This record gives sequence, C-alpha cells and structure tokens, in this order.
Amino acid sequence: SGKNQAQMEQIVVNGSELSQVVVDDSNLLQKKISAIRLAGPAKLQVIADFDATLTKYWVDGCRGQSSHNVLQQEDPEYNDKRQKLYEYYHPLEFDPAIPLDEKTKLMEEWWGKTHALLIEGGVTYNGIQNSVAKATVAFRDGVTELFELLEEKGVPVLIFSAGLADIIEEVLKQKFHRSFKNVRIVSNRMVFDENGRLHSFKGKTIHVLNKNEHALDMAVPVHDRCDDMNGLGDEKSALKKRTNVLLLGDHIGDLGMSDGLDYETRISVGFLNDRVENSLESYRKAFDILYLNDASMHGVVKLASHLC
Ligand code: TMP
Repeated sequence: SGKNQAQMEQIVVNGSELSQVVVDDSNLLQKKISAIRLAGPAKLQVIADFDATLTKYWVDGCRGQSSHNVLQQEDPEYNDKRQKLYEYYHPLEFDPAIPLDEKTKLMEEWWGKTHALLIEGGVTYNGIQNSVAKATVAFRDGVTELFELLEEKGVPVLIFSAGLADIIEEVLKQKFHRSFKNVRIVSNRMVFDENGRLHSFKGKTIHVLNKNEHALDMAVPVHDRCDDMNGLGDEKSALKKRTNVLLLGDHIGDLGMSDGLDYETRISVGFLNDRVENSLESYRKAFDILYLNDASMHGVVKLASHLC
C-alpha cells in the first residue's frame, strides 16, 4: 500500500544515511515488512552476529577487537601463541581454494588449539573483566535503542558468535551497565573450576563453519552461569514458534544463523564494513538491506519499530 511504501522509504532513504544503504529489491523488502508487521511481535525474533555487526568495525581509528582478541592471558607467551595460530589459520578461513570439508577440519583444529591454550595458560573471571575494561570495543550507535525497543515489545534477541560467550557477556555488562531480559548469547561458553579458573568449554564448539547448526540448542540467558541447560527447553520451543526473523550479520555466511529455524519471513540486514568495492555485488544480492562503511544501527532501529 501507499502507506507501507512511504514507511519503507523512511527506513531506507533517511537523510544522512542515504549514501550508506543499499536495497537490491525494494518490492520484496516491502512485502516482507508488511508480512512481519501483520504477524506481530509475538512471531518475531532477532538473530544477530556480534563482532563487526553489533560492534563497530573501526573504534577511534583502530580496528575494533573481536571477543577472541580482547582476551589477554596473564602469561603473554600464551597471547603470542594464540596470535601465531591466528596468523596461520585466518588466511585459510578465507581461502576460496580449500574445499568445505577440509576447511571445516582446519577450523575445528584452530578452535580446538585456541581453547586448549586458554585452558593451559589460565583464564580467570577477574582476567576477563580486566581484559574487557581495556578492550577496543564499542557498540554501533543505536544498539542500546534497538535492544530497549525489542525488550519493550517482548522480542527475543539471539547474539550468535563463534567467539567467546563469557567475553561477549562481559562487554554487554560493562557497556550497558544493565541487562536485557530478552537477550541470549549463543557462543562458546567457559566452565570455571572451584578456584575460578577456566576448566573447560561447555558443549560442542561453535566455529565459523558450523554457526548455523545449533543456534537454539546452545542459547543461554545472559548472566546465567548455571550448568543445567534443561530448564531452557520451554524457551527453546517458544523461540522455534517465532517464525519471522530479523537477521543481522557482516558475512554472507551469517545468513546461515537462521538455518536451524523453519522461518516464514526473514529480513536480512548486512553490514559491509571494509573493501566495499570488492564485495558490493555479492552482498547486495545476499542481504535484503545492506549498510556500507561501518554505518550506525539507527536504520535498523527504525526498521524494527515498523516491524513490531
Ligand atoms: P564470528 O565473530 O563471525 O562468529 O567469528 C569468529 C572470528 O573469530 C573468526 O573470524 C575467527 C576469529 N578467531 C580469532 O580471532 N582468534 C581465534 O583464536 C579464533 C579461534 C578465531
């Protein structure tokens, strides 16, 4: 309808963000917005990547740190060892010549070795707090408003990351100074021993190539360090009934985050932060809405306010 058309233009063509947003098929987007709006907030959930999606790619002229990079162990030798692994495996992560099954094995190897170094070199909750306090990490402008709006409307947010849940949780705590009832973190979660030292990781490792498999099966409430995940059964099945999705990501692979869900309508929002010319064509085809050059979250807040 004319009204919806006007709404959509407001979302995608608003003042200062005009040059930073690309919509490949605005008719399709408009249909999706109408369908989600009609079904209402009870049918909606948000699935968001963390690094460089909720957080800024650039922070005061420096690359924002990922949850893995934030964590500094007491013995610097272990930070160096993890950095060496990064230098070896990170290029392989993006090497188009490596077949998927082989790359999956490499990623399992990388995450396995990194987690082992974290356990061997020691990590404490105190160390996590200190690392996060010093970290170069900032949420995009508008993330607070987005979380507040979704909380008010009772729409759950799954933050989905192949990084470290405990770091992400601490970043949320330190940056927001409050918790959100509706926010869940799906990521690699640490288990601490009675002396408060990292002992192991909980459940199956989430790496970049299996970020699609167990979105709902690993969801743990923020600030809930309880070992018994069975209590979440009801919540998981409630999430599966929310068949409309607003997905936020910065890699085309992030679209897989909703694979565990039999969704009806999905609006995908992409952030193309860097080397825009190289990826613009593939990203604009892959995402319903694409924000360029480390944009703010204000457009997504506006979109969400039209969806619920
Ligand atoms: P994600 O944030 O998109 O879920 O992916 C996690 C990123 O973490 C991935 O691009 C590789 C990176 N990473 C590190 O920087 N250091 C590490 O030790 C590991 C295992 C991954």
